[in-house]
Amino acid sequence: MYTDDQLKAIACKFEIAGKIQQIKPLGPGFINDTLIVKTLTSDGNAGPRYILQRKNHLVFPDVPGMMNNIAMVTAHIKAKVAARGGDPDREVLTIVPRNAASIAEEEKALPHSNLYYKDENGNFWAMCLFIEGSVTYEKADSPALAYKGGQGIGRFQSDLADFTQELSETIPGFHNIRWRFQQWDEALKRDAASRAASVKEEISWIESRREEMLDFWSLVESGAIPRRVTHNDTKISNILFDEKGEVLCVIDLDTCMSSTSLNDFGDAIRSYTNTGAEDDRDLDNVAMSLDMFRAYTQGYLSERRDTMTETELDWLAFSARYITFEQVLRFLMDYLDGDVYYKTKYADHNLVRTRAQYRLLQSMEQQYDQMLKVVKDFLS
Ligand SMILES: Nc1ncnc2c1ncn2[C@@H]1O[C@H](COP(=O)(O)OP(=O)(O)O)[C@@H](O)[C@H]1O
Ligand SMILES: [Mg+2]
Repeated sequence: MYTDDQLKAIACKFEIAGKIQQIKPLGPGFINDTLIVKTLTSDGNAGPRYILQRKNHLVFPDVPGMMNNIAMVTAHIKAKVAARGGDPDREVLTIVPRNAASIAEEEKALPHSNLYYKDENGNFWAMCLFIEGSVTYEKADSPALAYKGGQGIGRFQSDLADFTQELSETIPGFHNIRWRFQQWDEALKRDAASRAASVKEEISWIESRREEMLDFWSLVESGAIPRRVTHNDTKISNILFDEKGEVLCVIDLDTCMSSTSLNDFGDAIRSYTNTGAEDDRDLDNVAMSLDMFRAYTQGYLSERRDTMTETELDWLAFSARYITFEQVLRFLMDYLDGDVYYKTKYADHNLVRTRAQYRLLQSMEQQYDQMLKVVKDFLS
């Protein structure tokens, strides 16, 4: 825990306008790594507000690389927003750099040390402008909201379609099924929790799809599907909307990397369209809602149709199967490993998740022709 004075000292490391009036957690006051910094101008009026965030360096081992990714990506979008006459302070996240005078000599030698502060406890902090008058939704529970979610990610990717700089791979191997299969093969061989014999059928679900999933990834590896900037955490709570409910911008850019755009699309479809819970015991609850798929896809393509290649469009619907399959594999692999990665609430929680996610995958496979038609109809 940090005292108010400690938090103020951390906030002062950044280039803020005005005097700090108050720092408090964003949200209902429980322990939070996202803080809001209120300022006062020299004449005593309310100044700009800022978001101060502690970055989780256990999840992101390369915070400087991550912050540099965010700085490059947001600068690129900012130029696009300005060029179309939008508001560059609201339609993209604004990274607040370090206050130059606060950067110590030894920090200067470190990469991107103008973008973050590392405190005495080894925690990393970064700051951005608080976007006033914005709202977020916790869950997309209607096609109308799914459409907006698709629009948000679609616009983000479309603004970045001509981004050519190199981004750091801050989470190695993310959504790379070839690498996942290497881990999978090792997990099967190890059989650390002696569970493999009891889940032969579930293992066959993975093995029977190995080839088609690797074939898809080969297209990314060969460049037939281009690499682009991806967000990698496309949930609706990472999109800010204005008071009228229109998309402002995408936030929570920590996971931005270079991969196929289709991963973002597929991951969104996996989570937006599931009619059940990720760990539903009642498999009859679980299915892909075609209405939600249609809505998200239409919102997404309304922003992206002109910046995608034929090959990307051909594989768009498949990406939902790819990402859902990867999740089935990861849940089952963790079950084989003895539940070391995902937090579990009961003994076979990962197996329940495996089965529920597999039901979702089957539902996508069954509706695949209709999914392809949704994409085709939109484009025609
Ligand atoms: N720049 C910002 N302006 C306004 N609200 C923000 C901003 N950044 C974050 N928020 C709010 O804080 C929440 C959590 O921030 P986020 O960056 O998504 O962190 P987390 O890793 O906790 O999801 C968001 O869902 C949003 O409601
Ligand atoms: Mg978030």
